[in-house]
Amino acid sequence: MYNNLLSVLLFFAWSSSSAISAPSLEPSITSLEEFEIEDSAARIVNGYQIDISKIPYQAALRRRVTSGWSHTCGAVIISHTAVLTAAHCVDSYVSEPSSLRVAVGMSSLLFGGKTYDVAKVIIHSTYSSMTLVDDIALLGTTKIMSFSTNINSVAIASATHSLPVGTEALVSGFGTTSYEGSTSSTLLAAKVYIIDQAVCSRAYVRIASIYSGMVCANASNPYRDACQGDSGGPLVADGILVGIVSWGERCADPLYPGVYTRVSEYNSWILTNLIQLS
Ligand SMILES: *[C@@H]1O[C@H](CO)[C@@H](O)[C@H](O)[C@H]1NC(C)=O
Repeated sequence: MYNNLLSVLLFFAWSSSSAISAPSLEPSITSLEEFEIEDSAARIVNGYQIDISKIPYQAALRRRVTSGWSHTCGAVIISHTAVLTAAHCVDSYVSEPSSLRVAVGMSSLLFGGKTYDVAKVIIHSTYSSMTLVDDIALLGTTKIMSFSTNINSVAIASATHSLPVGTEALVSGFGTTSYEGSTSSTLLAAKVYIIDQAVCSRAYVRIASIYSGMVCANASNPYRDACQGDSGGPLVADGILVGIVSWGERCADPLYPGVYTRVSEYNSWILTNLIQLS
């Protein structure tokens, strides 16, 4: 799957042989006018197409570029005026929220949906781009997002939410439907399973630390995973947001599970900062 030169190049930022590097946003950025081959970096690996009405909490972040707006990352609607995402997606936008937009209600990056301007970017104060610890951020929209069958919030995991090993969860995000990057860019989802923290730590022992604020998931037959452009997007189990796509060594690599920000660890951070937004 990933023995292909294209993906090796595109996922280089995730498979740095030196220190763990934050998944660079660059390879996953795609011009909305011109979907190029680069967009293949942004796909859920071995996922299936899903309609937004099934996961109406899925949002997409766009950043301002000279030619318009570019898909940057996933995000998750948690209230009428707030989305969660990964800190590594937005850490350079804290003083420039107007260069970000939230797109919601779309099954395709090209059609439908609504966009909302971002009024505020709050990054976790102890987020580190080196270790990716506390990889969580909250964005406030300038206007109230109107909810519909295609646009809705998801409940966040409580501080005491239990997430047993083997729990099935759905990860989702935008990407091209073919590796050559056709002009369509549809929403994809994949079922993955929560794995043991110690098992995940062992898998990454020579690469990175798995902190308590992280949770790992993987799946096989075929190997399924989130990938670079999915960062900031949702991992939902039993209708509750349990993870935010954060990082991984390559994508869908049998040896390396996907790593997510563990939402239950940040429940009070989220609630405290939600109040700050309003
Ligand atoms: C998930 O990752 C762990 C740790 O690398 C590994 O032991 C396990 O076999 C993987 N499971 C699947 C289904 O890929």
